[in-house]
Amino acid sequence: MYHSKIAGLGFYVPENIVTNDDLSKLMDTNDEWIQERTGIKERRHVQRGDGNTTTSMGVKAAQIAIQRSGVAKEDIDFIVFATLSPDYYFPGPGVLVQRDLGLKTIGALDIRNQCSGFVYAVSIADQYIKTGMYKNILVIGSELQSYGLDMTDRGRGVSVIFGDGAGAAVLSREEDLTSGILSTHLHSEGIHAEELAVVAPGMGKRWVTDIIKDNDPNDESYYPYMNGQFVFKNAVVRFSEVINEGLLANNLSVCNISLLIPHQANLRISQFIQHKFKLSEEQVFNNIQKYGNTTAASIPIALTEAWEQGKIKKGDIVVLAAFGSGFTWGSVIIKW
Ligand code: UT7
Repeated sequence: MYHSKIAGLGFYVPENIVTNDDLSKLMDTNDEWIQERTGIKERRHVQRGDGNTTTSMGVKAAQIAIQRSGVAKEDIDFIVFATLSPDYYFPGPGVLVQRDLGLKTIGALDIRNQCSGFVYAVSIADQYIKTGMYKNILVIGSELQSYGLDMTDRGRGVSVIFGDGAGAAVLSREEDLTSGILSTHLHSEGIHAEELAVVAPGMGKRWVTDIIKDNDPNDESYYPYMNGQFVFKNAVVRFSEVINEGLLANNLSVCNISLLIPHQANLRISQFIQHKFKLSEEQVFNNIQKYGNTTAASIPIALTEAWEQGKIKKGDIVVLAAFGSGFTWGSVIIKW
């Protein structure tokens, strides 16, 4: 039995900055509303022709993470890729990373857990390393969401929130069983699946053949739908529960948290959690102001930035927590 540790981190965001004022030229919104309700000042969107895809951004983040980990490419044993915005309907982006990074013919797994995707991906990688099956695993969260958003008044409640970008981590075997990833905790509640979803194209509600046949420009089924207030109310409850669950499992309490990195869903959600747990501003890392909600990429981007800014030191207790579409939620407790 082993532990796993985060051996290297990297992130990549497209160059193109989209401000709230930029969005107000496309739809009936404004900087004041967006900042007041979400904390977001700007986000990154890929531009047509700039060459960015979900996979290519993931690859760029992965290259940095691999280089920083000191692990040779040939020693990566497995890929786990989390996204809700894959390049292709199938195959998933995991195999494209194997190809584009020129990795050995190792296994590649795609994770479909949206905002909780990175937490689920880390949990899976951790299990493989714990059992001794693999030594080094590349974990990526990447999203190209801007192409799929409804950039009209109709979609304003959703489209102002989301951004594009990627983050990656190399998880490696840790022999010291008192440090590294201490535990992971995963949950789902599918009764609320349609409260935050893109239902088409799929094999359930809207078949591809029907969409093509109808050719209806007013068909909203392939745009994201979110029951914002309902999601918000569930998020604050589930974030709190799953952070507590992780602390309890390790005989830790809130005062042991060195840094909480919540999925960057909404600055108001992060602040609610911060106040509920009586944490200081320095103990909760937020960068949604710059990148918006990048779904599966938000935690690895935030984790990388926090690490780059020197906010994570050896021995720190770092807590990752996520909630999102599914509903799914989870946490990771790390002793750095
Ligand atoms: O990452 C996955 C998990 N996601 C989340 O956790 C997101 C959770 N939810 C939220 O963050 C918030 O619900 C939102 C930021 C999405 C929305 O904020 P809200 O305070 O819940 O606003 P609302 O949807 O209740 O809308 C309030 C008003 C409405 O107008 P009326 O009906 O009061 O006249 C909306 O039509 O704001 C209007 N509105 C906007 N106005 C300007 C909605 N979107 C916009 C907009 N700009 N972009």
